[in-house]
Parts: sequence; structure tokens; C-alpha cells
Amino acid sequence: MGNFPRFGRGRRLTSPNATRVEAAVPYTNSEAGAQTRAVDRCGAMKRVASSHSIDDFGEDLDSFVTLSSFILTASTTCPSLAAKGHIKKEEETDLCILLQSVATSCKYIQNCVRKLGLANLSGKTQDLTTNVQGEQQMKLDVIAHDVFARGLDESKRCTMLVSEEEEDAIMCATSPHGRYVCVFDPLDGSSNIDCCVSVGSIFGVYRAKTLGVGDINDVLVPGKEMVAAGYCMYGSACTMVLTVGGNVRGFTLDPSLGEFVLTHPKIKCPPSGATYSVNEGNSRYWSAGMKRYVDHVKYDKESPHSLRYIGSMVADVHRTLLYGGTFSYPGDSKSPNGKLRILYECFPMAYIMERAGGAASDGTQRILDIVPTSIHQRHPIHMGSEEDVEEIDRFHREAEMEGK
Ligand code: AHG
Ligand code: MN
Ligand code: MN
Repeated sequence: MGNFPRFGRGRRLTSPNATRVEAAVPYTNSEAGAQTRAVDRCGAMKRVASSHSIDDFGEDLDSFVTLSSFILTASTTCPSLAAKGHIKKEEETDLCILLQSVATSCKYIQNCVRKLGLANLSGKTQDLTTNVQGEQQMKLDVIAHDVFARGLDESKRCTMLVSEEEEDAIMCATSPHGRYVCVFDPLDGSSNIDCCVSVGSIFGVYRAKTLGVGDINDVLVPGKEMVAAGYCMYGSACTMVLTVGGNVRGFTLDPSLGEFVLTHPKIKCPPSGATYSVNEGNSRYWSAGMKRYVDHVKYDKESPHSLRYIGSMVADVHRTLLYGGTFSYPGDSKSPNGKLRILYECFPMAYIMERAGGAASDGTQRILDIVPTSIHQRHPIHMGSEEDVEEIDRFHREAEMEGK
């Protein structure tokens, strides 16, 4: 892996026209020249053939949809969104270029994850750096940040970036196409990276209020104002889950093509589930509402819910999204705001969960209605099956009414 000069480090830019660090050695990422097929014009996304490796190309091209072809035709495949103005025709290409940049960064990061021990990428940074949260940075936290930030900056479609790994917002070079602000957690679950447990990248996209001008107020708005959100999980498969405001779609990286291929045309979170996901090691600090909910699913249900907790938000949420149940990182007496950052962890995941028919709250209010006051602010979160999240809220409300 190339040694990148740090991207963003020292670029505590206060105004968009401040000078830029020279773009470092560009990383190459030769994407296989995979053919992409226009999405079925009537907008129906046919289920991708079960196997779609290169030798199936001639089999059933019409159902072979890649991330590239999807985002290039988002306004036709999501006509209701175009009609609502959620995806404006003139913006579509810019959003496509931004998402392509994210996809390329995710491919690069998954490559690093796969080669971790072989390429001496495991472990903490040499100089034991910490991020703004005071958390020890892993080598891959830093590389993932640089790859994401450089790719988005060079896409020329962003005015500003907010990264978990950078204290201040990064103002991108002024561009007439700078329509968006991207917030991201470049490597989520990084404490798990050395033991090969699934990790991922999380991102959210806002529309900049002023074309080409970065402004911190563009992201100090309710999470529901995002125009797109997604995550990429580096697990047994490399899976990108994405919504541009409508249905939630899953794309799986086909290493033989270097393309993300549509494998989940319309992800729906089951209305209820049989698992709960929370770090029970913190239960002594929990509120009465949280304790009551967990006792309820353990002792009151016909059969107890199963506890599933990986410790990588992306992996825990991906399982909850597909199988149902709940994922929680509650506030407690030790950490009243919990651990997860609202802007680049809670909001994108809540945005995806809601569009898949699930729900996300903090026990008292909808996550996506919250207005952040700072870019690294933490916030408690419960998300997953709509009925189960409603149950969590009920236990929190009852406990609060009793003054507990
Ligand atoms: P990150 O690696 O980006 O700092 O995120 C780690 C987060 C999240 O992925 C996970 O849900 C949570 O940390 C687990 O925290 P605990 O170890 O306290 O349970
Ligand atoms: Mn994270
Ligand atoms: Mn992270």
C-alpha cells in the first residue's frame, strides 16, 4: 500500500479558498471494464441471476445491474424520487460521481482489510495517534480516512467533508459542481480489525445550501435532510447497502469484475424480530427503561430473544436490517450520550433503517428529527424492527413517567 501524505491533517481550513495540500500520490484502482447494463426501462429491477460471474454475462444481461448503472439511472429507476425533486435531473450525474468515488474507496479499503496481516496493515498507528474522540487510531483508520477524503475531494462534487478521524470539517477545493457534503466513518468497528471480525465504512450525503461553498451549518440539520446514505461492510462478502432516498438496495462486490452487483433489490426490515443487540457488559449503568426492555425480551416472551453483539455497528446493524430485532447503543450513567456519533454513525444507519421499513429512536424521539450542535456529538440510539423499537420506547416512557 502506498504511503500517503496525510490528507486533511493540518488542513484546518476556515475558509473554502484556503490553499490545499497538494494531492498526494493518487492510488490506482483499475476497475474491471465490466459492462454495465441499463436498468430495465420500466424501472423494475429484476432480481440478479443467482450467479453472475463473468461467464454468466451472456446469460441474462438484462438482470445484471451494477452500482454504476443503478446510480446513473437513479431518476428513472426511482421516478417517485425524481418527481418529488429528491433527485434532480441536473444533480444526478454529480451524485453518481460522488457515489462512484465512495464505491472506489470502499473497494480499496476492502482490499486492505483482506490483505491486513500480509501487508503489515494491522495494529495501531506507529506514533500511537488518537482521533478527536481520544480513541486510539488503528493504521487502517488512517488509511481509510485518507482514501475516502482524497476520493471525495478529487471527485469535485463536495464542498465539505466530515470524518470521524478529523477534528474539523475539511473544506474541499472550490468547484462549480460542489453540490454535496459527505459525512463518513471511514472504518467502523476498527477495534475488531486485527481479529478479522467484520468492519465497515458508513457515509451520509447532504445537499450543500450554497453551490460550491462549504458551510458547517449544512450538516447541523436534522438527519432526515440527507439525500443519500449507505454503508459498506467488509465481511464474508463485501456488501454495499445504499439508499438515495427511496428503497434500500444491497450490492455485493464481485471480485472477478471489480464491480458492486445488485443482489438485494429491495431490502425490508422485518416488522419484529427475535434478537436484541447491545453490550450487556454495561448493564449496571443502564437506565430503568433499558433494563426493563432487556428483561422483557429475556423473560416475558414465549421464547427468549437471542443476544447477538459483534461490536462493529455496521455488522450488528446489517444483521438487524436483514433479520429484524433491535440494535442499541443506549446512554447510561457512565456515558449519558452513549458512544455512537450522531452525524456519521447514527444518522446514516437510521436513514437506511427507516427506508427499509424499520425505525430508529433514542428512547424518546425519532433519531432523524434531531438537530446536532457539533459534528462529533454522540447520541443514544435504538434501531431495528418497527414494533420492537416501539417496545423499547414504551419501556423508556413508562420508566420516565415513574421518575425512574
Ligand atoms: P469505530 O470503530 O468507528 O470507533 O466504531 C466503534 C463503535 C461501533 O462500531 C460499535 O457498535 C461500538 O463501537 C462498540 O462499542 P463497545 O465496544 O463499547 O460495545
Ligand atoms: Mn464507528
Ligand atoms: Mn471509525
